[in-house]
Amino acid sequence: MKQRIVYVCTRCGASTRQWRGQCPGCGVWNTLEEGVENRSASRPRIPLVQPIAASNVDLAPDVRVETKSPELDRVLGGGLVAGAIVLVGGEPGIGKSTLLLQVLGNLSGTVPGVLYVTGEESIHQVALRAQRLGVAADSVRLLAETRVESILEVLERETPRIVVIDSIQTMFTEALQSAPGSVAQVRESAACLVRHAKNHAVSVLLVGHVTKDGAIAGPRVLEHMVDTVLYFESEADRRFRVIRAVKNRFGAANELGLFAMTGKGLREVRNPSAIFLARGAEDVAGSVVTVVREGSRPLLVEIQALVDDASGPPRRLTVGIDQGRLNMLLAVLHRHAGISTQGLDVYANVVGGVRIAETSADLAVLAAVRSTLATRPVDRGLLVFGEVGLAGEIRPVPGGEERLREGAKHGFSRALVPVANIPRCTPSGIEVLGVDRVDRALDFI
Ligand code: TYD
Ligand code: MG
Repeated sequence: MKQRIVYVCTRCGASTRQWRGQCPGCGVWNTLEEGVENRSASRPRIPLVQPIAASNVDLAPDVRVETKSPELDRVLGGGLVAGAIVLVGGEPGIGKSTLLLQVLGNLSGTVPGVLYVTGEESIHQVALRAQRLGVAADSVRLLAETRVESILEVLERETPRIVVIDSIQTMFTEALQSAPGSVAQVRESAACLVRHAKNHAVSVLLVGHVTKDGAIAGPRVLEHMVDTVLYFESEADRRFRVIRAVKNRFGAANELGLFAMTGKGLREVRNPSAIFLARGAEDVAGSVVTVVREGSRPLLVEIQALVDDASGPPRRLTVGIDQGRLNMLLAVLHRHAGISTQGLDVYANVVGGVRIAETSADLAVLAAVRSTLATRPVDRGLLVFGEVGLAGEIRPVPGGEERLREGAKHGFSRALVPVANIPRCTPSGIEVLGVDRVDRALDFI
């Protein structure tokens, strides 16, 4: 098969052999990108393609290998699927190489061939790190290479079952002339590796760097090519690392795994609620604990609010919750509970750098605002959750019973929840107070 360079318009798909500023198809400027055209020397006979009934497809169950890291296994949907392509994205220095080296070490006991391809660090550096992390160094094979064709040769010869490519931005294929790291190179290099992996049922873990604004040519352009996209993020204090599945063809998206970076690599965090809830001994006004769901797991988090006299136009600032939502909640507070924040700055914060995307924290935000306005601490044993509607009603949220169980597990003795979330059998040790209106709910605060 001969390969020839073509320039393809990212907008209309027209292709041309010569680079131009303007697309010959749609006439738009700067949309042409380098790509390769596959041409056979002699025109091949096109094989007959035939659709097949869905019921006739051979449905062998996915073969999964557990990575021996329960946090990562959960995010992957129960282990690494043979032949799956997983993209692990994250900012430089967050711990992608560390995690994958540890995972390869774990897997090397159960899977015969594991290969770590490094394009960034030397073999020496990787071996040193493996030694420091206590990774079984004799069973993890290392390769320092950035040329995709050479890597494919090694894969053909050595037939490893699991391969880490660290990182995809350093890889290049000779089929293209553009520099490694360019969008075209990243995409084409990944495409070559994905093709090989799918044909040979090899699992490939691709490392991809992203900057804060995600601007760099990298993981974003690969998301549609891979089966699973994991993003590695850091909590505000940088001690903890969160892995989130943003796409998963083999499991639920939005699953979350928590790790802590230690002197000996990444360690699993088994009980995240305990970390986000590490509160001081003294009761303070404006602090309320709620329970959110991150993927399939309930997580207890503390919400803080502070109000202060505004010296100018009143400000509403939030960290970890949507600012528009806070504005809306304050309007409901005024209209339906008669509590005004006019002329006051209002700040709301989710402790521990957690970002809350669901509405279940609404009632807790209002409870925290109420508590700080009244300078009255909320009972430490009280858990609050529920969505607040514009009519001042408290609406139910999914997974109420599970949230209550998480609260009971961590010693909460009372829970203020939407009436519709009162479970038929209450988890032991927690008293459930059902509320349906925001004004009546805030009477408990
Ligand atoms: P690394 O895995 O190299 O990040 P990435 O591949 O995402 O760029 O992680 C590097 C950081 O992790 C670095 O700042 C040092 C820290 N680290 C530890 O704290 N402990 C360890 O055992 C290791 C290996 C790294
Ligand atoms: Mg790295």
